[in-house]
Amino acid sequence: MDKFVIEGGHRLCGRVKISGAKNGSLAMMPAVLLAPGVYHLKNTPNLRDVWTMSRLLGSMGVFCELNDNNLFMDASQIKSYEAPYEHVKMMRASFYVLGPLVARYGTAKVSLPGGCAWGPRPVDLHLKGLEKLGAEISIENGYVVAKAEKLKGAKFHFDISSVGATGNIMMAATLAQGTTLLTNAAIEPEITSLARMLVKMGAKIEGIGTSQLIIDGVAELHPVDDETIPDRIEAATFLIAAAMTGGRIELEHTNPYHLASVLQKLEESGCNIDVTSDNILLEMDNEPKPVDITTSVYPGIPTDIQAQWLAFMLKANGISKIIDTIYTDRFKHVPELRRLGANIDLQENTAIVQGGKQLSGATVMSSDLRASASLILAALIAEGQSEVLRVYHIDRGYENIEKKLTSLGAVIKRVKTDLI
Ligand code: UD1
Repeated sequence: MDKFVIEGGHRLCGRVKISGAKNGSLAMMPAVLLAPGVYHLKNTPNLRDVWTMSRLLGSMGVFCELNDNNLFMDASQIKSYEAPYEHVKMMRASFYVLGPLVARYGTAKVSLPGGCAWGPRPVDLHLKGLEKLGAEISIENGYVVAKAEKLKGAKFHFDISSVGATGNIMMAATLAQGTTLLTNAAIEPEITSLARMLVKMGAKIEGIGTSQLIIDGVAELHPVDDETIPDRIEAATFLIAAAMTGGRIELEHTNPYHLASVLQKLEESGCNIDVTSDNILLEMDNEPKPVDITTSVYPGIPTDIQAQWLAFMLKANGISKIIDTIYTDRFKHVPELRRLGANIDLQENTAIVQGGKQLSGATVMSSDLRASASLILAALIAEGQSEVLRVYHIDRGYENIEKKLTSLGAVIKRVKTDLI
């Protein structure tokens, strides 16, 4: 198992190219189950989660090959309609296959994901939505079994805006008979890009980019070439890293529009930001000011940057409040950050950070993807050397993170270790 050894205290300066969005590719890849043929997804990040999705689709008969961020998928022959526990337990996004399978083949068996490192993550909305479209759902031996001769268009309101459930039900509805109306649908850019891909495939979807989607089912879809959007979470992570080290960074191949809420908060903290069509230049030559954040659905502050922002606020002299309204238990990084000397009071879904105290290097343990990013950022400003263990979590969602950080001036090394 790998760990990172990081020497703190170096400014990050330079340019970095942002990769394709993990959550974008993971939403688009299962769409190949909706129509036979060969697909080409450009700008696919070379990440563990993409490999997991490729293996899952491969187990169903989809041939997947990732070459220089070009993902080729041949979905001509699907031989299994099952997503086994071994895949779903590694990555909850595996659940995305449920909607397309039941829509096209009338049957699907997908392992229930269970909880995750930071608490329960239910799938009730995925199941309720599919039931509304006429699927018969039962839970058998830890698996969701869904059956439907032909899904039928229906009205479905998401009680909570859910990225995954919107993607799943939207994919299913494209092949249902009749019209589906989805309200309070997620409008995260990764879902919007999935909707655009489905339209290219021949789906009829109105209201893309809004929380009300009207989907007219069609008899069949066709394969397409498409491209994954830039990863807004990776971009935000690098911007925060530059800001907290007093650096200057230029992000290439990003979408500033997707990052509006984060850029505003960075400006409030004292960063100078200049934006062009797909570049963001950030310069921080001030001491960062404490800035509170509250995570919410898009276009609000993403829960996926809560942990990184918390690390940033350790550098800001004063008190800041970080509230996560999406995943209220998502604070596994807090005890590890305290090992670096952080002063954080955790009260339910609110972290109160007393920043401005110099952190000191220590060995810390990653518990999940964004928690790992937070620990790496904190190690970049800690005095001396830190070790971040279990970096396989970071490999799920950041392409070449140590190479990118090194090119910006960070001192970070990947080391093999027997420690788990
Ligand atoms: C996706 C992202 C994840 C991000 C999250 C929130 C992917 C692969 N993952 O996860 O990185 O942190 O969106 O932006 O794209 N909920 C229910 N019932 C359900 C489904 C969700 O109650 O059936 C709740 C969740 O507990 C959570 C909220 O809805 O409080 C949002 O979750 P959701 O948007 O579904 O997250 P994911 O799609 O799992």
